[in-house]
Amino acid sequence: MAYAAFRSIGAYAPEKILTNQELSEMVDTSDEWIVKRTGIKERRIAAKDETTSDMGVKAAALAIERSGIEKKDIDMLICATISPDYFCMPSTATIISSKLGLNNVTAFDISAACTGFVYILSIAKAFIEAGMKKNILIVGAEKLSAITDYTDRGTCILFGDGAGAAIISATEDKSEAIIDIHTGADGTFADLLMTPNGGSGSAHDSLDQEASSCFMQMKGNETFKVAVRTLTKDVVDILQTNNIKSEDINHFVPHQANYRIIKAVGDALAMKEEQVVLTVAKYGNTSGASIPMAINEVYESGDLKAGELMLLDAFGGGLTWGSALVPFSPLK
Ligand code: ACO
Repeated sequence: MAYAAFRSIGAYAPEKILTNQELSEMVDTSDEWIVKRTGIKERRIAAKDETTSDMGVKAAALAIERSGIEKKDIDMLICATISPDYFCMPSTATIISSKLGLNNVTAFDISAACTGFVYILSIAKAFIEAGMKKNILIVGAEKLSAITDYTDRGTCILFGDGAGAAIISATEDKSEAIIDIHTGADGTFADLLMTPNGGSGSAHDSLDQEASSCFMQMKGNETFKVAVRTLTKDVVDILQTNNIKSEDINHFVPHQANYRIIKAVGDALAMKEEQVVLTVAKYGNTSGASIPMAINEVYESGDLKAGELMLLDAFGGGLTWGSALVPFSPLK
């Protein structure tokens, strides 16, 4: 039987930093309010001509290089994004594949908002376990600044741009395998977080009236409550199902939406501070890119060692949610 191993990680964050102070000059807010309610201090913003695929390519190139797997052996590319280069088609995954020179891949996007990375991880696992693919590049990439209304203080303080990518490969060694992934959705909460239209490749200024139909709209407080409830249940379930205790987790990598949500879920699981990966202060919420960007921070700090167990946990528009138990299994 083939198992799926998480081989490598890469990420990219645009250079431009948007601080809370700068936002407080744009809308009626303050650094103090944003830090207290969200934990966010700053976020990255892509250049005007920098697309979601451009950022995805940079993250993916790093993940490929670190995996030790050759480009020609990659047979599938899945991109999780809610801010694709183009609305409908072509998919951002196909654009990334051509920019990387991956000529022999199945490529497609999925839309699961902030849960996108957990969803594409589960799809990669399933394709590998079914014996259909061997080396899958998964990319979470977002140019959320293209779909953010910078006159709405309820959303514009939260979101940022960036990308993260990983290589998932077939292995026969069960000790290297992704242990389990849970995913779920409930469309009855669809109106909590919505984006009627648009894409990061659209030639619009984000304050343009015509573009306003593509902006994210969120009922923040209601979303917050459902997020804490759902995330806590989801991680408790996946740990219990697999007979794993909180203390067995080396790195708890939650979606970086809001420090208060992360703290509530971490406390419910009795996670120690040093187990919880936090990047929300410097990148804000980068939706489908947030979990791989956070894993990359741990990797680049030298703290992610071969064999260590990660617990991933995400929640987002849809509503969607998901969790995953993932050992880090680089090729030896
Ligand atoms: N600055 C100052 N005041 C503000 C701001 C702001 N930026 N935003 C809202 N307020 C005000 C409100 O108007 C309200 O004022 P009022 O009491 O006079 O009516 C007050 O602050 C409280 O507003 P709430 O919305 O209740 O504030 P809350 O504590 O819930 O924080 C936040 C808002 C940060 C948006 C929070 O609800 C949140 O993080 N929600 C979850 C977001 C999330 O996880 N989304 C899912 C993933 S995203 C995705 O999938 C793309």
